[in-house]
Amino acid sequence: MGALVVFESMFGCTQSIAEAVGDGLTAAHIPAEVVEVGRAAGHDVAVARADLLVIGAPTHMRGMSTPRTRALARTRSDDLVSTDLGVHEWLDALPGLSGRLVAVFDTRSGARFAGSAGERIERLLRKRNARLVAPVQAFGVISKDDGTAELGPGQLELAKAWGATLAGALASAI
Ligand SMILES: Cc1cc2nc3c(=O)[nH]c(=O)nc-3n(C[C@H](O)[C@H](O)[C@H](O)COP(=O)(O)O)c2cc1C
Repeated sequence: MGALVVFESMFGCTQSIAEAVGDGLTAAHIPAEVVEVGRAAGHDVAVARADLLVIGAPTHMRGMSTPRTRALARTRSDDLVSTDLGVHEWLDALPGLSGRLVAVFDTRSGARFAGSAGERIERLLRKRNARLVAPVQAFGVISKDDGTAELGPGQLELAKAWGATLAGALASAI
């Protein structure tokens, strides 16, 4: 059994969480590959082969990123992780999610805004008849003065523990 963690990230927070989730899965004996969403777009076979697909994205404007919000992020940093594609566009182009085992997380600052990219992703996946093995998990970031973000305290540990939880959920779902 194996998992694929696909993430979108502007400033690196969601990437770090995705890697920690992958570590947690692997430590719990579910080998996990972690792939940035722009690269996942060319790897439909790897996506199809994974027993568990984990999807993570940053919350933008109370939901998933759009070309407009990513352009806004670009004005805050010229060193973005995800430069081409967001999870929304990737999912729209991805065939055959019916019956697939999936889990979703997001990052969010929650301070000045509310909302959740993860809940939007969950809704899209449910419409496509994917099977969620766990509730959407949020990880907290702290907004910096320059408009970028850094992970909140304890979030990497939480992500690793959540990854291990997913391994258990996958075993019961199969
Ligand atoms: C354009 C933009 C809009 C944002 N909107 C929200 C929001 O509505 N709610 C929220 O909690 N955080 C919001 N944030 C903060 C992001 O969630 C935060 O930058 C992100 O989780 C950091 O992850 P990343 O480093 O992987 O991009 C926004 C950030 C950007 C750049």
